Amino acid sequence: MRVLVTGGAGYIGSHTVVSLIEAGHEPVVVDNLSNALRSVLARIAEVAGVTPEFHQVDVRDREAMAGIASSGIDACIHFAALKAVDESIRKPLEYYDNNVRGTIDLLAVLSAAGVRNLVFSSSATVYGDPTELPLREEMPTGRATNPYGWTKIMMEQVLTDLQAAEPEWSITMLRYFNPVGAHPSGLLGEDPRGIPNNLMPYVTRVAAGILPRLRVFGGDYPTRDGTGVRDFVHVQDVAEGHVAALERLSGEPGLHVYNLGTGRGHTVLEVVKTFEEATGKPVPYEIVGRRPGDVAESWADVSKAERELGWRATRDLATMCVDAWRWQENVR
Ligand code: NAD
Ligand code: UD1
Repeated sequence: MRVLVTGGAGYIGSHTVVSLIEAGHEPVVVDNLSNALRSVLARIAEVAGVTPEFHQVDVRDREAMAGIASSGIDACIHFAALKAVDESIRKPLEYYDNNVRGTIDLLAVLSAAGVRNLVFSSSATVYGDPTELPLREEMPTGRATNPYGWTKIMMEQVLTDLQAAEPEWSITMLRYFNPVGAHPSGLLGEDPRGIPNNLMPYVTRVAAGILPRLRVFGGDYPTRDGTGVRDFVHVQDVAEGHVAALERLSGEPGLHVYNLGTGRGHTVLEVVKTFEEATGKPVPYEIVGRRPGDVAESWADVSKAERELGWRATRDLATMCVDAWRWQENVR
């Protein structure tokens, strides 16, 4: 399949482009490079042996996107979005414009070009504060605690309404839990600017001596060691989930929703311990107050993706830590 990949130079996008090439597909990458480097394309080529077609275009540029969409595209994977929770609180209009308007613009262009297969990057954040675990796809979506989360809830609504109005669409919403890790080659990974908000990039920077210690947000949650529980999933597993969804569901009209996680929760302190054991690098930490907006626990029921997509995460937490660390050593 010739697959338009918006945000394909980003963290999850670049891994997915590699998985698409490995599965024999032809990715067409569109990225405005607002949060990625052009050099990622050469790294993809080094890993996958093929340089993907690339367009530095913003998804809101309907004219440029129309030209690309009419170039024989079979399906689209839509990653392009802004994703920093803190920034979204400070710049809500930028987030709604980029994420929600960007998605509407993209859908209009795809529809006009007759492309009606879409896989969309959603997030476990749409479930809000869980009332029951594990999280299942049919549970109601909740209230977001920040504009970023609201953009995901809104985009899911836009997609749901579009599919109801134009039932020939195949729309798959993949709700990622906590993607971490990096490509085992050490050539692709996540390199957040400034001080990372997310746990794993923070841990790797502490291990590298760039930051003095990890601040563990909250030691008094009702969990086995008092720290937050998340379903960490290797970014390569997430990438492969997109290929599975595309291959199973393209041309199958409907609204399809899947969790992408491992089905297992780990506490923050278990991540620290596993990282230390797997890499031999100490991660000093201190327990501080809870971070506003955090939930105590979140993990997925992954049985629907297993059953219907034939997809299952295969890499464990130690592999996620080792791969994240290899990447950190390479970018240093
Ligand atoms: P990322 O920032 O690395 O990738 C997003 C890419 O989209 C970047 O390369 C950026 O330059 C590009 N982009 C942003 N706005 C654009 C626009 N208007 N036009 C063209 N390109 C644009 O982020 P990621 O972690 O790879 O996330 C990919 C998707 O997955 C996002 O939609 C994100 O919200 C979603 N998601 C990520 C996580 C996570 O933990 N990383 C969790 C759940 C959902
Ligand atoms: C966060 C976002 C979510 C987004 C996801 C991926 C919030 C409230 N949620 O999820 O919307 O989709 O990132 O980008 O921001 N932790 C520490 N110390 C740190 C960093 C994190 O203890 O320095 C803890 C957190 O409290 C949490 C766990 O580690 O318990 C995971 O945090 P993080 O990696 O930020 O992911 P989420 O909060 O699950």
